[in-house]
Amino acid sequence: MGKIGIFYASAGGTTKLVTDALIEAFDIDEDDVIFMEDDYDDIEQFDDYDILFIGSSTWGQGDTHFEWVDPMLEIEEEADFSGKKVAFFGAGDYKKHGEHFCSALGKLHNTFTKVGAEAIGFLPKEEYTYEFSLAEIDGKFCGLGIDEHNEAEKTAPRIEKWIEQLKTELGE
Ligand SMILES: Cc1cc2nc3c(=O)[nH]c(=O)nc-3n(C[C@H](O)[C@H](O)[C@H](O)COP(=O)(O)O)c2cc1C
Repeated sequence: MGKIGIFYASAGGTTKLVTDALIEAFDIDEDDVIFMEDDYDDIEQFDDYDILFIGSSTWGQGDTHFEWVDPMLEIEEEADFSGKKVAFFGAGDYKKHGEHFCSALGKLHNTFTKVGAEAIGFLPKEEYTYEFSLAEIDGKFCGLGIDEHNEAEKTAPRIEKWIEQLKTELGE
């Protein structure tokens, strides 16, 4: 299937709920789990992986977690991720921030696909409620969003279903 690396940022641990489920489902070694705040040094770390699981909650007005800001610039300037597959996940709040629900996923999607990565793990946009989201790409939601503020009961089934979808898309 190829080597998987998880790169994620999470302020309060909500996005980490997905990270932990991915680690268990894909049996990912802790060395291959990069918490952006502590473990990320430079873009060469992405070279080790064929498959990237990329996580961020959404902040400000549809921004990624700030730990992603510099790496995204570096990626757009320097990286070539041709041949890599990438799936996006993250937490948001559709009631307080429905004008940019989980938009970080869309920003990350644009950065990674701009440098050649192939995005997987899209979901039907009908599974979410929002006014606007940069995560909506070509009529679909470009990854797994979770909303622990308003739809906590949906988190576990959403994660479980998405992981099954990823396994199918990755041919496991
Ligand atoms: C100042 C502030 C701005 C936020 N902006 C957004 C936003 O634009 N879109 C969104 O979906 N959620 C937004 N959120 C909600 C967070 O993404 C949400 O609380 C999330 O669960 C945090 O996940 P984390 O613990 O993994 O960082 C915002 C929260 C705060 C406090």
